[in-house]
Amino acid sequence: MGQYIIEGRNRLCGSVKVQGAKNSALPILAATVAVGKPCIIHNCPDLSDINSTVKILKCLGCKVQRSNGMIFVDPGHLVKKRISDVLMREMRSSIIFLGALLSSVGEAVISAPGGCDIGLRPIDIHLASMRKLGVNITESHGEIRCSCKKIKGGKIVLPFPSVGATENIILASVKSNCVTTIINAAREPEIVDLAMFLNSCGARITGAGESTVVIEGVDRLNSSQYAVMPDRIVACTYMAAAAVTGSTLIVDDVIPVHITPVFSCFEQAGCRVETSGTQLRITSPEKLCAFDRIQTMPYPGFPTDCQAIMMAVASVSKGVTIICENIFENRFQHIGELRRMGANIKVQDKIAVVDGVDCLQGAFVHSTDLRAGAALVVAGLCAEGTTTVDRISYIDRGYASFAENLSALGAVIQRKDQL
Ligand code: UD1
Repeated sequence: MGQYIIEGRNRLCGSVKVQGAKNSALPILAATVAVGKPCIIHNCPDLSDINSTVKILKCLGCKVQRSNGMIFVDPGHLVKKRISDVLMREMRSSIIFLGALLSSVGEAVISAPGGCDIGLRPIDIHLASMRKLGVNITESHGEIRCSCKKIKGGKIVLPFPSVGATENIILASVKSNCVTTIINAAREPEIVDLAMFLNSCGARITGAGESTVVIEGVDRLNSSQYAVMPDRIVACTYMAAAAVTGSTLIVDDVIPVHITPVFSCFEQAGCRVETSGTQLRITSPEKLCAFDRIQTMPYPGFPTDCQAIMMAVASVSKGVTIICENIFENRFQHIGELRRMGANIKVQDKIAVVDGVDCLQGAFVHSTDLRAGAALVVAGLCAEGTTTVDRISYIDRGYASFAENLSALGAVIQRKDQL
């Protein structure tokens, strides 16, 4: 378990390039198993979750080569249909191999996935959807055995627009000989990225990014090269770092429309956000002010993955900001840590009331999950004195070269890895 040690209250300046999106890269890499032909995926960020995905691909028998941000996957040598419990537990996205394996070999043996502890995170919607597609599923002693001779397609109405379940349905049905329609599909940009990758391989997926997605199964898919889109949550994290330190920053490689709901919070806080193509400039005032109530929602609503980060911003914004977490039931663990730094936050059920303080104080704090960890780094950047953010292996799941990038912008942050 490593730590970030941050000396706060240093202004940032310059420009930072946003990494490829973790939540796109993970399902796209899993999707190569469904494609069944060699693929080259560019702009893959260097993250522990990507390492876990590569481990799963190799354990299934795929050939994998990595060079900088490029990952070559040849799934032509698939030898296994089973993913060990140890690998399943490394991250939530391991569940996406279910649809990919069904598509490729008609069978998958998995167990419940791991991932950040932000709620119960069941997989009932995934399994119910697979059953609707004709997959036979038996669960015993923690093992989930899934098999299917023929995906039967049809209409699947999701009770909630789950990102992972939408991805699994797309993957399971992409190589069937029928049509599958997802109603109330997740509309996140990462779904669009996955569909665009699969379509570049010859899939016929329409409606990705809308509530109704139609997958016309095809006989086979072909090799492809694809570049993962930029990470919208990482872009917002750098914007938050600029906001709390009163800085002007250029954030490069962003798709502004992906972060519209978060933009408005920065603007209400007093920041100026200017966009030009895939670049944005954020100019922050000396003192931020509170912003309108945040309600986390499925896309295009305010992303739950930005909730902790914007709570760090609200902690030093004059006035009261109300933050409501609607997606995950245990995604307020950072509040206790922000309070250690002097934040004034009251919480009841899924609502946090943040009364901005003049200044946070450096303290020893724990990352409790990926985005909570990033929020504490943001808080540390503007706190008086030294902040030690412990348990940064969570942050390693989603932020590549975080300390290096922030240091290059003028932050004083060091990584200390414990042996
Ligand atoms: C993905 C993202 C994660 C983001 C989340 C919501 C990846 C790798 N992760 O996670 O960063 O925070 O979307 O935008 O892309 N649910 C069920 N049953 C299910 C599936 C989900 O009840 O079978 C519930 C979850 O517990 C949660 C909600 O639905 O309360 C949203 O989950 P979902 O959209 O599936 O998120 P993930 O795909 O796990």
